Amino acid sequence: MSSTPQYLSGNDIRALFLDFYTQRGHQPLPSASLVPEDPTVLLTIAGMLPFKPIFLGQRTPEFKRATTSQKCIRTNDIENVGRTKRHHTFFEMLGNFSFGDYFKAQAIAWGWEISTQVFGISPQNLVVSVFEEDDEAFAIWRDNIGVNEKRIKRMGADDNFWVSGPTGPCGPCSEIYYDFHPELGDDNIDLEDDTRFIEFYNLVFMQYNRDVSGNLTPLQNKNIDTGMGLERMAQILQKKPNNYETDLIFPIIETAAKIAKIDYHQSDENTKISLKVIGDHVRSVVHMIADEIRASNVGRGYVLRRLIRRVVRHGRLIGISGEFINQVAETAISLSESVYPNLRKREAPIKAELQREEVNFLKTLDRGEKLLAEIIETVKQQGQKSITGESAFTLYDTYGFPLELTQEVAEENNLTVDVEGFNAEMQKQIERAKAAHETIDLTVQGSLDKLAEHIHSTDFIGYTATATTAKIEVLLVSGVSEEAAEAGTEVQIVLDKTPFYAESGGQIGDKGYISGDGILIRIEDVKKESDFFIHFGRIERGTIRIGDHVTAQIDTACRRRAQANHTATHLLQAALKKVVDEGISQAGSLVSFDRLRFDFNCPRALTAEEVQQIEELVNTWISEAHAAKVEVLPIAEAKAKGAVAMFGEKYGDDVRVIDFPGVSMELCGGTHVSNTAEIGVFKIISEAGVASGVRRIEAVSGAAILDYLNVRDKVVKDLSDRFKVKPEEIPDRITTLQTELRNSEKQIESLKAQIAIVKSDSLLQTAETVGEHKIIIAQMEDVDAESLKAAAERLLQKIGNGAVVLGSVPEAGKVSIVAAFSLEVNKKSVQAGKFVGTIAKICGGGGGGKPNLAQAGGRDATKLPEALETAKNDLLAALK
Ligand code: ALA
Repeated sequence: MSSTPQYLSGNDIRALFLDFYTQRGHQPLPSASLVPEDPTVLLTIAGMLPFKPIFLGQRTPEFKRATTSQKCIRTNDIENVGRTKRHHTFFEMLGNFSFGDYFKAQAIAWGWEISTQVFGISPQNLVVSVFEEDDEAFAIWRDNIGVNEKRIKRMGADDNFWVSGPTGPCGPCSEIYYDFHPELGDDNIDLEDDTRFIEFYNLVFMQYNRDVSGNLTPLQNKNIDTGMGLERMAQILQKKPNNYETDLIFPIIETAAKIAKIDYHQSDENTKISLKVIGDHVRSVVHMIADEIRASNVGRGYVLRRLIRRVVRHGRLIGISGEFINQVAETAISLSESVYPNLRKREAPIKAELQREEVNFLKTLDRGEKLLAEIIETVKQQGQKSITGESAFTLYDTYGFPLELTQEVAEENNLTVDVEGFNAEMQKQIERAKAAHETIDLTVQGSLDKLAEHIHSTDFIGYTATATTAKIEVLLVSGVSEEAAEAGTEVQIVLDKTPFYAESGGQIGDKGYISGDGILIRIEDVKKESDFFIHFGRIERGTIRIGDHVTAQIDTACRRRAQANHTATHLLQAALKKVVDEGISQAGSLVSFDRLRFDFNCPRALTAEEVQQIEELVNTWISEAHAAKVEVLPIAEAKAKGAVAMFGEKYGDDVRVIDFPGVSMELCGGTHVSNTAEIGVFKIISEAGVASGVRRIEAVSGAAILDYLNVRDKVVKDLSDRFKVKPEEIPDRITTLQTELRNSEKQIESLKAQIAIVKSDSLLQTAETVGEHKIIIAQMEDVDAESLKAAAERLLQKIGNGAVVLGSVPEAGKVSIVAAFSLEVNKKSVQAGKFVGTIAKICGGGGGGKPNLAQAGGRDATKLPEALETAKNDLLAALK
C-alpha cells in the first residue's frame, strides 16, 4: 500500500534538500542572479547555468560538489502558464552537482534516498525513466535500488537527453516521477498522463558538449547536474491539485482575488487561469527587477515588460479596473524575502518600475477602449453583427487588448468577433516578422543561437571585395540585442554581407570602418559565431539602428600585411618539409598583421644552417613570383591532388585550395596574396621548442618587415650613440669593454685584500698569549671573504705559532668567518676546518677546509660577536 507523505512547507523542502546534500560533502551556494554571466543565454534557465564554464572545463571549480536552490525563468511555455498544473515562468530549481566527482550510481542512490527517506514518499508512489540507450542507469535502478522493472521506463532523446541549449554541455538523464494513482497498476504506465504522474527530479549525467552542428564530444570530466522542481515537490507534499495552490504561490492568488472581490475556489476555469497567471508572473517580475532588469522593448527588458502587461491584462479580465500590481507584488516579496533578502532591499525600485509600467499600459488600454467603442459604434451603424478580425487584431497588437476582452465587450453590445479572421491576422503578423528579420524574439535562448532562426548567415565577400554597402541585421551591446546605440558605445554588429575576414584558421580578423549618414564605427576585430560574422567596434559618430544601410570598408593596409604573412606561412611549411623532413606537420599557427607564428611537430631543434636554408628557400620562392590558383574542390579531389590538410581539422564536403603550383598546395579558408612576389621578403626571427615534440618558428614578411627593422635599427642607433662608434664596430667595442671590466674587477679584488691586510696590522696588538701560542680573535668591518682570508694568513705569518679567527659582515644577511692555525696548534688536535664549521653554526651557516686554513659562511650577522666569543673560549680551553 502507498502511504501519504507528511506535509512540508516550501521553505522546509528547500532547507531539507540543501541540508541533505551539505551533509554529503556538497558546498551550499546562494542562488545566482537571473541575469546570467553566460552571454549566450538571456536569463538563468536552470540550476546548472552558473556552473556551465566548469562543466566545459573552462573554469576550475573551488569545490568538487555543490548544492543550490536556483531561481529560474523560462518563458518558452508561457502560453501554458495557468492552464496546466505545473508550468511556470518563475520557479526554483533545487540541485546537487558533481564536477568530475561522483557519477551515475551515487546520484541515483541519493536521489532515491532523499525522495523516500527525507521527503517520505513511499516507493509505491515512484516511477523512474531512463534514456532508452542507457542500460547502465536501468540496471542501477533495478539492481542497486530495487525498483520493479515495470516501473522503470525507457524514453527517447526528446525526454531523456538533457541539453542546456542548442549548444553546450549535455547528457542522458534519468527522471523521478510521483504517481498519484499507484492503484491503477504497473501495466499501463504512461508518463505523459499528467493526471496520474508528475516529474519532480531530473538527474542529468552530464558528459558531452554539443557543438553548432549537433556533434557530441565527451567532456573532460563526467559530471552530475540535477534539478528538483521546488514547486512540484510542494504540490506533492502539500497534496494540492496543482503547483499554484501551494504555499509558495497561493497567497499571491488570494491577494489578487481579494482585490477583484472574488473567491478562487468558487471561480470558473478562466478566472482561475487568470489568477494563476498573476500568481506566477508576479514572482517573475519582482525577482527580475530585484536582479536589476528594467522594462524595455528588447532582450530581457522585453520579457519583463511582456510579463507585467500580462499581469495587468489578466487583472482586467477578472474585473480589476485600477492599479493593483504593487499589492500583489508586496505579497510576493513578503513570501520570499526570508530566502531572497534583496527583494525587500530593492522594494522601492521594484515598486517604482512596476507602477510606471502599469500606469503606461493602463493608458494604452484606455485608448484601446475608446477605439473599441468607436468600432462598435461603426459596426452597429452599418447594421452588422460582428467585429472584424482585423479590428480585433489591431486592438490586440497595438493596444494590448486580449481577444477575450474584445469578445466580452462585444457580447455586452450583442455583437460577436470574427475569431478566425483574428487568428489569420495573427499568423500574417508572425510571417511579416519573420520576413522583416527585425522582430527578433530573444525571449530566453542564447542571443546568437536564437538569431539563427531569424536572419541569414553572413555573406562573406572579402575574398574579392574590400568594401560593400550592407544592412545592420543585429546590434548587440554587451551581448544583448538592442534596437539602437549611440556614439561612444562598444557594439557588436552583424551585417547581411561583409568584406571583413573573421578570425579563423589562425588568421586574425580584419580591422576597418562601418560608416553611413553621419555614422562612423571603428571596427577593431571580427569573429565568427556559427555562420554569423560579428564585428566588434566602437561608435565614433552618430546613432546606429537595426536596419540601417551602411558602408563596410576594411583597412586594406592591414589586410595586405595579413595576406603576406598568411601566404608566407604556407611557404614556410613547404620549405620545412623540403629542408628538414617531408613528415613535418602543422601543430598550430597565428597570422597577424605584424608577424606570423608556425608550430610544427618535430622531435629536435633545427640547426642554424637549416633555419638559414629555410629562410633562403622561402625568399627564393618569393622572388620567383609564383601566381596563386584558388579553387573550391570536393575534399577527396583536393586530397588526391596532394593538398596539405591540417591533421584533426574538420573540413566540409567542398574545400578551398590555395595552390602556388609546384611550391605549396594547402586547404585553407584564409586570405592570400595573388602572387608570392607581393610578399617582398621573409625573415625568421626565432626557432624554439614550445612543448614536447613541438617547435615554433616566428617570422615576419611583407610590410611588417619594416616595423621589425625599425625597432632593431633604433636599438643599434642607440648603442652606436652611447659607445660613440659606428654600428659595425659595436661588437668589437663590447669585447674591449668586457675585457676592461674583468681587469678592473681583478684590480678591485686585490686592492680590497691589501686594505684588509693593512687594517689587520692593527690587530697584532690584540694578540693574547696562551701557553706557547698567540691567538687573535677579531671582527673586521666591510671585508669580503677573500680579503678576510688574506688578512688571516698575513696575521698568522706575523705571530708564527698560534691561531687567528676573523669574522666579517661583507653585506647584509651574510657572515664570513676565517680560521688560520699554525702546525703547533694543529698538534693540540684543533683543526681549522672542523673548528670554523662549529663556530659558523652559531650564525646559521657552515663551512670547512684544511687543518691550517678554513672558511665558513653564515646568515645571522647579529650572532657574529657570540660566535667569535665562543671561538675564543674554545681556543683558550684547547691550547692551555
Ligand atoms: N539541468 C537539468 C534540468 O534543467 C537538471 O532539468
